[in-house]
Parts: sequence; structure tokens; C-alpha cells
Amino acid sequence: MVNSLLAVTIAGLHLKTPLIAASGTFGFGVEFADLVNLNQVGAICVKGLSLTPCAGNKGQRVVSTPSGILNAIGLENPGCTYFLEHILPQLRTYQVPVIVNIYGHSVEEYAAVAQALDVEGIDALEINISCPNVKQGGLAFGTDPHMATSVVQAVKKNTHKPVITKLSPNVTDIVSLARAVEDAGSDALSLINTLLGMKIDVRARKPVLGNIVGGLSGPAIRPVAVRMVYQVAQQVHIPIIGMGGIATAQDALEFMLAGASAIAVGTANLYQPDTLCTLTQDLQDYCAREQISCLQEIVGQALPQGKKSMPYFSRNNYDKK
Ligand SMILES: Cc1cc2nc3c(=O)[nH]c(=O)nc-3n(C[C@H](O)[C@H](O)[C@H](O)COP(=O)(O)O)c2cc1C
Repeated sequence: MVNSLLAVTIAGLHLKTPLIAASGTFGFGVEFADLVNLNQVGAICVKGLSLTPCAGNKGQRVVSTPSGILNAIGLENPGCTYFLEHILPQLRTYQVPVIVNIYGHSVEEYAAVAQALDVEGIDALEINISCPNVKQGGLAFGTDPHMATSVVQAVKKNTHKPVITKLSPNVTDIVSLARAVEDAGSDALSLINTLLGMKIDVRARKPVLGNIVGGLSGPAIRPVAVRMVYQVAQQVHIPIIGMGGIATAQDALEFMLAGASAIAVGTANLYQPDTLCTLTQDLQDYCAREQISCLQEIVGQALPQGKKSMPYFSRNNYDKK
């Protein structure tokens, strides 16, 4: 059932609610079917896919930290072909938009993944640009506006789907990256991915994670994520999907007030698997309490005067085509 109170359209994608399952924290969605009514979720963003299967990192991959976790999964996934043959058909039995998160280690690899996934049944692509560029000494694509531009342009050329670019927070100037990918044709932005961190085992006198460093997520990163959404929302004209430590309706509202048209729940799915259902109900209750007829009304309301009136929920590159 479409709930116009919470509904939102992003880059041509019609979502029943602005609540999305964040990539890597919800498997391929079907694993959560017994815990969450998938038909009520705004969209499912599946685990990051590469062209060929990837085994991920060796050694310990996850460790808890104050108000969060550090992960170094190493982007383990079964590859595009397996996903298309074995997982997508199952996922398509639910009435929920499917966003496929993709990555590569070269611009050509990103282009090839986008092309392989340009099939019916996938609603949008989300590009993870936090990956190392093997041709540039392992520098992450998402830390350089030129490299990020090349990836977005290559993906756009090879897909008919709306393209969402997921920004890395491991940069000094998030706005320049956001502008670059908008100019390159991205239809929407996701922010943020995990923050680079590490933990040392004091007794063993060694890093805990097999990969030494990992990505920090969970409530610990929320203030950083809200700040980045707030900064970027003032400077771009495409919609933003905000994420980073969202666990309650209050958290989701913070991101929307900062300018996010939709939000994604990540780490909270791991310790409270029904978070997306609880948030749906809590946001409906919020609208009733505040006498709001459409939740999108609040998007960007915490932005400085003059920025508030921009129609955040309707802007995108996709509809310009
Ligand atoms: C275990 C784990 C795996 C993740 N895998 C991916 C991934 O494959 N692709 C991606 O773009 N982001 C990935 N992320 C990042 C999340 O989608 C999200 O951007 C980040 O964790 C911040 O949100 P959160 O604090 O709600 O988890 C992963 C995060 C975690 C915790």
C-alpha cells in the first residue's frame, strides 16, 4: 500500500517511505525476510557487487567500538552473475525497489559492472567510490574529484538506471566531491560511507583487524554525517540520501532537516534487525503529532534562510533527460 504521508521520489525512483536499507548491512535483503516486512521498506540497497566474486579480507573483520563498529569485510560478494541468476529473482518476489551497490578497482571495472547490471528488475545503481584505484597507487576514487568524475561518467555511459553516488567522508572538502559527481551526471547522492579508523589490541600489541584499518559506522559517526549532509545540501541540486548512525526516528529527522530527502539505516540493522519497521511507524506517529501531511515538507528546514525553499525532494538529474 502506498503511504503518501511518507512517500518520496528520488531520481525517478518511487519509494513508499524514505527509509532505505544501507548497503552491506542488510545482506541481499532476502536474509531479512523473516524479520522485516520487506514490502514496507522504502528500498533495499544490496551488498556491494563487483564483476567477479570477491572473498574479502582475511582475519578478524569486525570489532565493536564506543557507539559503533569498525568493519573490514573487504567487500566480499558473490559477483554480478551469481547475483543476477540466484538472488535477484528471489528479491523480485517482493514489492520493494532494488538498488544495487557497485564497486570496481578501475574506471573500466566500474563501467563493466554497470553494464552487466543494466537489466530488468534492478531499479537503480549506487556507486561506492570509496574503493582504491589500482592504477593510482591505491588512492580511493572518492578522495579526488577528477577520479570520482571519471567513475560516474563511465557508469552513466553504461547504464539506463538512475545513478546514486555514495560519497566517502574521508576527505577534507566533501562539497567539492559532491559538486564534481553532480556535474558528472549523478542523479542523487548517498552520504556518508564509513570513516577510516583502527583499533589496537593492547595485550597482543597488534591491530585487531586483519586488514589493520577498517570503516567506522554506527551512532559514533552521526554528527559527522549530519554535518556533511547539511553542507552538501546547500550546494547541490540533486537529492541526498543521508546515512550514518541512524537508529531512531529522531536520528532520521535530523538528517531530513539537514537536507536529506531519504535516509538509510546501516549498522542498526545488525543489532536491531527490525529498525526499519520501527522507524516507519515512528515517522508516521511524528507526522500525526506534528500535523504534517507529507514528511517531505521538513526536508532542509534546518538549513540557513534562503536555502530552505529549494525543492529538495523533486530535484534530480534523472528527470532532466
Ligand atoms: C558491515 C558493513 C558492510 C558495509 N558494506 C558496504 C558496501 O558493500 N558498500 C557500501 O557502499 N557501503 C557499505 N557499508 C557502509 C554502509 O552502507 C553505511 O554507509 C555506513 O555504515 C554508515 O551508516 P551506519 O552508521 O548506519 O552503518 C558497510 C557498512 C558496514 C557496517
